[in-house]
Amino acid sequence: MTGIIEADDVTRHYEVGRGWFGGSATLRAVAGASFSVEAGSTLAVVGESGSGKSTLARLVTMIEPPTGGRLVIDGHTVGEETGARSGQMEELRRTVQIVFQNPYGSLNPRQKIGTILEEPLVINTKLSAAQRREKALSMLQRVGLRPEHYGRYPHMFSGGQRQRIAIARALMLDPKILVLDEPVSALDVSIQAQVLNLLADLQEEFGLTYLFISHDLSVVRFVADDVLVLYLGRPVEITTSEAIFQRPLHPYSRALLSATPVADPRRKRQNIKLTGEIPSPISPPSGCAFHPRCPYARDVCIAERPPLYDVDGAQVACHGIAQGWIDLDADWGASHDEVPAG
Ligand SMILES: Nc1ncnc2c1ncn2[C@@H]1O[C@H](COP(=O)(O)OP(=O)(O)OP(=O)(O)O)[C@@H](O)[C@H]1O
Ligand SMILES: [Mg+2]
Repeated sequence: MTGIIEADDVTRHYEVGRGWFGGSATLRAVAGASFSVEAGSTLAVVGESGSGKSTLARLVTMIEPPTGGRLVIDGHTVGEETGARSGQMEELRRTVQIVFQNPYGSLNPRQKIGTILEEPLVINTKLSAAQRREKALSMLQRVGLRPEHYGRYPHMFSGGQRQRIAIARALMLDPKILVLDEPVSALDVSIQAQVLNLLADLQEEFGLTYLFISHDLSVVRFVADDVLVLYLGRPVEITTSEAIFQRPLHPYSRALLSATPVADPRRKRQNIKLTGEIPSPISPPSGCAFHPRCPYARDVCIAERPPLYDVDGAQVACHGIAQGWIDLDADWGASHDEVPAG
């Protein structure tokens, strides 16, 4: 079955200056990503700051084109937008909408909520003013706001309410895919759950597909069907949400999880500490880019970049896992299978 999003070795490179006399260098923000997202499901993309999450979000939202590889969204290949296909591309763009992290920066402070919500309809549809208003009011209600909010300005709302408005705006053109770039990271923890619940309801009601970006794995746990762990612009593990929390394979996935508080204190697990900074995507380490920070690294990890291997239903880019010198169950998995006492 093909997904509503299909990425095949997608890259996004930037030419950047290296300072006064350095000339230019290539920064590989997305260095080669292959993955698939089923319609109606949620793929979470996780990784440290600088791993390429937002760049991937911009590619899927078609804010910028890939520099390489093939990205197919809802059956159309992104980037082939010349001539006869441009109409198709316009439609495709409406299919994917994005919600950003900062609910303060993403709404025009001079526009009333009604205007903000109706703007996409003015640009993209032939709906009458009355029809636009009706649709905006109904969407306001759908995201948990009230009709009287229609005439108010963004500064009159809390962060959580503003994010509801941003979500409503993203839904005005009936998209199939929502890219959510850290949608609750700027919100108070008490508000996060409300917005996540709203997103879950909307997904069910409208059959939406989510690409959910987060550096916070504890948030991902509640929303994701599948998880893609990104490191220096490449997926290092793609698996189900259940598997990533029960039995993460890649040492980097385990390091990220080690830094996430666990709900169940009876679970003991080996902690892998992430030491050092994420390396520069201008000159990534050879072989497996994670090798300088990996406690299991061997010579082959320095010499050869591991492909995504199929292991126990997951895809994982790790020589140690594929060749078996990392004993997962000794180090991590076994304690998770214990039946809780009492
Ligand atoms: N337009 C650009 N030009 C040059 N470099 C860029 C550009 N956009 C992103 N980068 C670089 O690409 C890398 C990935 O950036 P990106 O914003 O995608 O990471 P991220 O995972 O979203 O990080 P964060 O968690 O901090 O939001 C970074 O090294 C960043 O500096
Ligand atoms: Mg980002």
